[in-house]
Amino acid sequence: MAVTAGAAKLDTQKIRADFAYLEEEGNGGKPWAFLDSAASSQKPRQVLDAMREYYEHSYANVHRGVYTLAERATAGFEGAREKVRAFVNAETAREIVFTRQATEAINLVAYAWGLNNLRPGDVVIVTELEHHSNFVPWQYIAKRTGATFRMVPLTDDGELQLDALDELARDGNPKVVATNFVSNSLGTINDVAKISAWAHDHDAIYVCDAAQAAPHVPIDVQAIGADFLAFSAHKMLGPSGVGALWGRKELLEKMEPFNTGGHMIRRVRFDETTWGELPHKFEAGTAPLAEAVGLGAAIDYLMEIGFDAVGAHEHELTAYALERLAEIDGVTLYGPPPDRRAGIVSFNVDDIHPHDVAQVLDIDGVAIRAGHHCCQPLMGKLGVAATNRASFYVYTVTEEIDRLVDGVLRAKQLFG
Ligand SMILES: Cc1ncc(COP(=O)(O)O)c(C=O)c1O
Repeated sequence: MAVTAGAAKLDTQKIRADFAYLEEEGNGGKPWAFLDSAASSQKPRQVLDAMREYYEHSYANVHRGVYTLAERATAGFEGAREKVRAFVNAETAREIVFTRQATEAINLVAYAWGLNNLRPGDVVIVTELEHHSNFVPWQYIAKRTGATFRMVPLTDDGELQLDALDELARDGNPKVVATNFVSNSLGTINDVAKISAWAHDHDAIYVCDAAQAAPHVPIDVQAIGADFLAFSAHKMLGPSGVGALWGRKELLEKMEPFNTGGHMIRRVRFDETTWGELPHKFEAGTAPLAEAVGLGAAIDYLMEIGFDAVGAHEHELTAYALERLAEIDGVTLYGPPPDRRAGIVSFNVDDIHPHDVAQVLDIDGVAIRAGHHCCQPLMGKLGVAATNRASFYVYTVTEEIDRLVDGVLRAKQLFG
């Protein structure tokens, strides 16, 4: 991660007091060392309080009611949309569509844009570094439309070979380039503005999967020059069940709906239905209301800490973890140096299966993820079936990384 010199130091003790899970005694008689935030983060009280307050004092269905509670509910929900707009620096809140999560947001684009704009001769480009959520929808829609599906390859070190884009363009007309901003497996922070510029030079759209970026790095859709950008609340201190799609207004306006039903219509007749205005055209049915409010509260919480401080904290932890793990014989580390990654560290230990390592760590209350991390193409490239992944966030402290290292050493004694 690009570290800003002099970034305010994050007050982890103050932050940790906001997370109830840290009050509990975990396995081994110690507090949980939760090192799986890349899968889903823990939630501070401020987010839970905002949702409780909304349910208790401002709850009704939104937009349709003419009574005071419905107006309060609508104000809370639309207030959250405005917070998302500011969070990604969109021009207007009409470009923000609430979805269930990043996966649904990407599917929305793949179906509602892809099905009507792709045909044989077109090329859909993703990368070998993608989460399945930004891989499978494009592979599937390419198959359905007869478009060619191609991947930007990785170097042996797991870096995107962006030079290969020109080669891929020879396979037809590039129409979509879809990549992650931050890799969930390796933590790599990708040069999304460069990828977006390439896409536009080739008359393609650029779709940014920011699921793993939103918790860690500032997002500016205008600076990136993206056409669509997707993320989930649950990875950035917010609740599960809500995410957001930002899309360029001109594109969203031209697109057919994704889901149809209540709320997304302008007029319904026996023979024909017309669609509502943005963003409602893409929000069929009752939205995740309190969840959106929770996302707004998570954005407030992160903004108060500031991404400079988040970045500096994660950089310190990541550099420390990489250094400590590298000291252990038989540990293989994957991914770039700490200055180009968010707080995510993937590794293997001798030939010990990651599930065994994770189980040994759990005995001591240390939670890491073991598996393919929804990145089977990447695992194939790395020549492994799975890795261990420790991921850090605002509540992580170095002592938890020491406990990780102790657990890895214990796993080596047991299985090595
Ligand atoms: C990079 C990336 N993209 C997409 C997703 C999908 O997120 P969700 O399951 O919240 O839709 C994830 C989740 O791990 C991810 O890390």
